[in-house]
Amino acid sequence: MELIYEKSKPGRRASTLPRYDLPAAEVPEELRRAEPPRLPELAEPEVVRHFTELSTRNFGIDTGFYPLGSCTMKHNPRVNERVVMLPGFKDLHPHQEEDGAQGALELMWRLQEILQEVAGLDACSLQPAAGSQGELTGLMLMRAYFEDIGEGEQRDTIVTADTAHGTNPASVTMAGYKLDKVATDARGNLDVDDLRAKVNERTAGLMLTNPSTLGLFDENIEEVAKIFHDAGSLLYYDGANLNAVCGISRPGDMGFDIVHINLHKTFSQPHGGGGPGGGPIVVRRKLEPFLPVPAVVKDGNVFRLDYDRPDSIGKVRGFTGPFGVFVRSYAYIRAYGPALKEMSEVAVLNANYLLARLRDAYDLPYDRLCMHEFVLSARTLKREHGVTALDVAKRLMDYGYHPPTIYFPLVVPEALMIEPTETEPKERLDAFVDAMLAIAREAEEDPSLLRDAPRTQPVRRLDEVKAAKRALVKYGFDEHPDLSGEVGEARQLEAQKGA
Ligand SMILES: Cc1ncc(COP(=O)(O)O)c(C=O)c1O
Repeated sequence: MELIYEKSKPGRRASTLPRYDLPAAEVPEELRRAEPPRLPELAEPEVVRHFTELSTRNFGIDTGFYPLGSCTMKHNPRVNERVVMLPGFKDLHPHQEEDGAQGALELMWRLQEILQEVAGLDACSLQPAAGSQGELTGLMLMRAYFEDIGEGEQRDTIVTADTAHGTNPASVTMAGYKLDKVATDARGNLDVDDLRAKVNERTAGLMLTNPSTLGLFDENIEEVAKIFHDAGSLLYYDGANLNAVCGISRPGDMGFDIVHINLHKTFSQPHGGGGPGGGPIVVRRKLEPFLPVPAVVKDGNVFRLDYDRPDSIGKVRGFTGPFGVFVRSYAYIRAYGPALKEMSEVAVLNANYLLARLRDAYDLPYDRLCMHEFVLSARTLKREHGVTALDVAKRLMDYGYHPPTIYFPLVVPEALMIEPTETEPKERLDAFVDAMLAIAREAEEDPSLLRDAPRTQPVRRLDEVKAAKRALVKYGFDEHPDLSGEVGEARQLEAQKGA
């Protein structure tokens, strides 16, 4: 497809504006352009066609099934968009005085209360803008807490699982902690013996997602929590997989002290491509004094922002956080009401249905009931037919599906991580199974179909690492760099999730 600059013809216009008769603005000489900007010149229908065509090349949850493990790509109810566009929310200015923003403050306060209940903990800050920022904020809280009790110097290490999402070790490093990784045992749980050997008086805490990125609930979670608490350490819950357990089990009851909740996953929000998101953190009472300011509080019947928190770690984001995300999540939760746990029950049911139908065609590294997602492996397909998880993923695109997450978690070779979510009907799941089974047959009968996939898409195989790391987002006119000669080994790699 041609770029809009390549379609441009000098002198063409999308519209003509009336000549203005206002005096020319006085712009200092040194700030004035020497030449007019080189904008593309096209008639309006061509502009409309260009962008409409571009929009049809996008794949989203609204165009098809999107089983991208760990990302929880569920349907976003349209009523939430209506609610977020209500003038009282949409037109609110972040500097609005509190008495003119009581509705918005009340919504945030109520959302905090709900998240506390869901997490089984005592206090909440809505500020962090994503799960990863929640992680960093949570680690800053740990540091503030240990400094407060005089153990700041002593506790310098955070333990994570070898299945952890890439943001976990990144946050640990950014927060200035050392990282210690614990192995996974044969059932997909944290290896408790390895863990015991690693937890001591230097351990600040554990960072764990439960269910794990293998889609498995840790069967020893209470024992794990005890090991850390006995050593005086804290437990951080990466809530990216909360869609599996809402209203069924609570991180606070499992023993976690700090939780982030990926609002954009569990409680719906159009997301992908980096945002927008929300990563509120919820904590045990003893950590409340350190939460970011301002806190949204209720005084009698009045809601206000409380900045008077002398032990707070300070602000982690502008104003009070991503407000539009709060409105959508609040609407989503209220639509379920007390039946919220049905959301998780159906997510788990859908995942187990897919697992049961696919387990014979692909390898299943951990043979257990899964939670809201599961990890298969294309190991045997690779050994016997030379096709990889990447080939399976690319072939799925020819069948009209977004590929699952692949090559993650790192402990599973040729991993395919599948998360259907609760919003898919059985017919969709069955059609996806048919495609996966057909691909497994193709791998046996005609593996080139997979190796050359995708065959039906506007572009074939891309060097995804280069596309991410050397993205050209500016038209270069005469100096458009030619990167075609730069063929790295990255061509066959998928940018790893969270890497
Ligand atoms: C297990 C896990 N932890 C943490 C994160 C980070 O969350 P966010 O993308 O909101 O920063 C993700 C994101 O996909 C994840 O899957």
